[in-house]
Amino acid sequence: MLPKILENRDGELQIDGVSNIELAKKYGTPLYVMSESVIREKYRNMFHAMSSKYQKIRIFYAAKANTSLSVLRILRDEGAYVDSVSPGEVFLALKSGFPSEKILFTGTSVTDDELRFLLNSGVKINIDSISELRRLLKMVTPDFISIRVNPEIGAGHHEHVITAGKQSKFGLWEDDLLKAYEIARAHGVRQFGLHMHIGSGVLNIEPFALAVERLLQIGKRVHDTLNISFDLVDIGGGFGVPYRPEEKALDIGLFSDKILSLIKQRLKEYGLGEPTLGFEPGRYIVAEAGILLSAVNTIKTTPFKKYAGIDAGFNTLIRPAMYGSYHHIVVANRMNESPCEVYDIAGPLCESGDILGRDRRLPELQEADLLAILNAGAYGFSMSSQYNSRPRPAEILVNRGKHALVRGRETLEDLLTGQEFAPWLK
Ligand code: LLP
Repeated sequence: MLPKILENRDGELQIDGVSNIELAKKYGTPLYVMSESVIREKYRNMFHAMSSKYQKIRIFYAAKANTSLSVLRILRDEGAYVDSVSPGEVFLALKSGFPSEKILFTGTSVTDDELRFLLNSGVKINIDSISELRRLLKMVTPDFISIRVNPEIGAGHHEHVITAGKQSKFGLWEDDLLKAYEIARAHGVRQFGLHMHIGSGVLNIEPFALAVERLLQIGKRVHDTLNISFDLVDIGGGFGVPYRPEEKALDIGLFSDKILSLIKQRLKEYGLGEPTLGFEPGRYIVAEAGILLSAVNTIKTTPFKKYAGIDAGFNTLIRPAMYGSYHHIVVANRMNESPCEVYDIAGPLCESGDILGRDRRLPELQEADLLAILNAGAYGFSMSSQYNSRPRPAEILVNRGKHALVRGRETLEDLLTGQEFAPWLK
């Protein structure tokens, strides 16, 4: 079953009313294609699910998933806020038209220069260590500070993306958190946020329920000990999407039923008032909006395997190599043909790990066939590289039959950016 934005039109895969074959012809491959309709729909789904259960909510789009200016602009138009993790993401969010008040920065291992940049930009800051807090307070006393707690419960699709619990570098543990709020208050900070992010790619509700319980218990202790109340309680992102055809989507309606009721109940019980609730979805908004188109270069048979060598590798989509992630792959120009062969789909990089899909049952492939790698809208381009000195692909935005180039394909000249010969080599 294809996601509904992808359609089989006479054996050719369309996205949002546009032929992928035409896109590949016009713009070349590899090519990232993003659907505006899906981005809007996913944002609205989440917004409606959350706002139907709680009055004051904010959706901070986690820009790290995809920082294309067009994607950011669409979300700005939808009314989103932004979760950013670097000065670069703040810069891009501002360039795409977000006002600084709508940008929250949640860094880790943050430098003084970065703090100065954030202060000059006027964005809100979410603190990840007492070290960072002390350095910030030496520069200024912000009106608002949020602090990230490690709620001791983490979750995620791979150990690399679990961001809470004993093995995590993120957030403050409870006792330090109390100290941090105390320090901030003593410096004259008057408005506070409480933040967590437990991990990424979570498809069930239980870990959120456990972590929210812990978060609010900790929040109660802060409130009771220091008489601090929170303007913002932000439960982070991590809302998963199905990558395998047989996987079930996270039920966002059920999530809001269960988790928001729990939050409301505990806020009341603990006397924490009615803070704004923050959510930081990245993948949930953009993963399913994007595909990566890639042409078949070579077909190779060994005594053990059949390989389709394509023009996209882990330079363009690192998730399979980095996390063993599954991305569904379809043959965009053979949608009516039945699978009859098993292929490993291999990229062009000189690394054995450059495999985008193992043991895929597909129609018989030929050179110049066009593959579509699904769910590439999140952590695709944003994690891409020029490894093996391959310029990065172009990116297209499609919307109900329209398409536009929103990021040009890099050229060989781009490989020279910033480089010069050392003077003694000239
Ligand atoms: N908020 C914070 C503080 C985060 O660190 C992250 C992700 C998010 C929100 C958004 O998480 P999402 O809703 O997208 O799961 N490269 C990995 C994902 C790493 C996510 C890191 N932090 C992947 O491709 O699976």
